Amino acid sequence: KMPVVLDVDTGIDDALALLYALASDRLDVRGITTCFGNGDVETTTRNTLAVVSLAERGAPVYQGAAHPLVGQWEPSAEAFHGTDGLGGYAFTPQGIAVQAQSAVQYLGEVTQELSGEIVLIATARLTNIAAALTAHPEMVRRVKRLVIMGGAAFVGGNVTPVAEANIWGDPEAAWIVFHSGMPITMVGLDVTMQVRISDAMLETLDPRRPYAAMLKGAVDFYLGAYNPGRLIGDRTAPLHDPLAVAVAEEPDLCDTIPYAVDIERYGTLTRGMTVVDRREWLPLRPNIDVAVGVDRDRFMTTFARRLGFDDRI
Ligand code: BDR
Ligand code: CA
Repeated sequence: KMPVVLDVDTGIDDALALLYALASDRLDVRGITTCFGNGDVETTTRNTLAVVSLAERGAPVYQGAAHPLVGQWEPSAEAFHGTDGLGGYAFTPQGIAVQAQSAVQYLGEVTQELSGEIVLIATARLTNIAAALTAHPEMVRRVKRLVIMGGAAFVGGNVTPVAEANIWGDPEAAWIVFHSGMPITMVGLDVTMQVRISDAMLETLDPRRPYAAMLKGAVDFYLGAYNPGRLIGDRTAPLHDPLAVAVAEEPDLCDTIPYAVDIERYGTLTRGMTVVDRREWLPLRPNIDVAVGVDRDRFMTTFARRLGFDDRI
């Protein structure tokens, strides 16, 4: 089994990513670290514990950053994830508690223990990973690969016309991580916008799954946010974070191209943009494997089966 650590800001699609990872026979989820993002860090941590309490297997949860490396956290995702991060379906988990150790300490330890093997999956701001790299620089050589849900290479952004939420929410952290030298795969909006859940699919969720009621409500909210005012026909919404987990598990799920990618930190219109250098005639050093295409059907079939949806939809 592949040992992985998930870094999340739970969040509706993070919840789906956690359930996907914790039901995998091929992934060994060693730990989960939490970051601010879709809510403040207390909220995202509580939501992470709640989702883990309903998942097929458990994993220890470590609380991480409450604010970006520079500046403060400001809510930006309430329209998509609700004020509670789970579209009104958040609940306080029973019989499961957060670990005493901080996310940064844990990342330092687990990468030492599983040096050369451990794969990190980040579906949140890169604040925890950047802080861990600063505290434990040897992590760069110990992490086998970091798979990031974040950025937008050749399509527009979502929080701004050019910036995707996980990079926009802490560009200084993203800059540290992108320039660290770690092997990184960027699963950005280029591919995540192509894998979508629909009303028809949600209807087929097996009601016997322990998370069925929570997921039905939360994903219905998420579909509403992505399709404002739409009353006729199926609504669809992207499965950003689950795709990053799937790519960690099955790297050939996405076509990737190595590119030199930088993070815009100072632009008044472009802060948080992932700037991809495509100039073939320059001897650029690629630092990121950018996902540019996805085997949509393969992902959707595995996603549906694993979480309890009908895979024919
Ligand atoms: C990303 O931003 C967050 O709100 C989602 O959970 C996802 O990780 C999409 O841009
Ligand atoms: Ca997320």
